[in-house]
Amino acid sequence: MKGWALITGASEGLGQEFARLAAAEGHDVILSARQTAKLEALAQTLRADFGVAVLCLPADLSKPGAAETLWQSAEQAGCISVLVNNAGLGRNGAFADPEGWAREAESIEVNIRAAALLMKRAAVAMAASDGGRILNVASAAGFMPGPNMAVYHATKAFLLSLSEAAAVELRGTGVSVTALCPGATETNFFAADGQHRSTILTRMPMGKPDTVARAGWAAMKAGRAVCVTGVQNKLAVLLVRLSPRWITAVATGAFLKRRS
Ligand SMILES: NC(=O)c1ccc[n+]([C@@H]2O[C@H](COP(=O)([O-])OP(=O)(O)OC[C@H]3O[C@@H](n4cnc5c(N)ncnc54)[C@H](OP(=O)(O)O)[C@@H]3O)[C@@H](O)[C@H]2O)c1
Repeated sequence: MKGWALITGASEGLGQEFARLAAAEGHDVILSARQTAKLEALAQTLRADFGVAVLCLPADLSKPGAAETLWQSAEQAGCISVLVNNAGLGRNGAFADPEGWAREAESIEVNIRAAALLMKRAAVAMAASDGGRILNVASAAGFMPGPNMAVYHATKAFLLSLSEAAAVELRGTGVSVTALCPGATETNFFAADGQHRSTILTRMPMGKPDTVARAGWAAMKAGRAVCVTGVQNKLAVLLVRLSPRWITAVATGAFLKRRS
């Protein structure tokens, strides 16, 4: 039995791609996000194309208790063998701008608290049953401080570190944890933040969501702890490892600066 794949942030971008990959491999799929109509439309396509069962569990993961409720509802469907912690958001702008806090706080709740809670519940349940796989969608941003997108980079550093630590702890239990670290990717991510003018969007080649998702899915199945996608992002991460943190921060900040 393949078990259920629970995918958060399944209404858009990378989440839709993960849902297709899971269904193509015969997993029954649980889709979660806030945009119910988009989840239902994707569910219909997956049922028709792959003949799997699909359940939609809408949730706003920034709300207190929402991640716990989602996990409990998902578990009622049956054994969850794959968790893709994909829902996430960011804010581009100066940290000292008081206007930004609402979105920054939402990103902390979704990218950190909800992801960590779902990961913990999944790790416990999977270790006590037939094992399973957890794919956390972090970011290349997790390797570097990001002035002008400071909170987002910090949330992804948290998820990357947590994933690497849990991957070691869970060795031998049948549960793998993989942190997927893409660079800028062609999804709704930047538009959702009203972000059209940072240098990263005009100078950096963007990854394709299907390519990025496939790389992450393959790394998850191989049980790899970390997967950085794209040659350019691998090079950037290598450079970051070799450079003083302050130089990385200054350079990253220049890329993330909004252009007028
Ligand atoms: N695109 C990039 O350049 C890039 C690069 C590196 C990493 N990532 C990471 O990849 C993941 C997927 O992002 P994407 O690129 O596919 O962006 P996207 O197209 O904006 O999709 C984000 C997904 O997260 C969901 N989401 C946002 N806020 C939520 C909330 N409060 N509660 C529940 N779900 C919420 C959205 O669903 P609803 O709006 O329906 O709730 C949507 O399905 C994120 O974790 C992101 O940080 C993206």
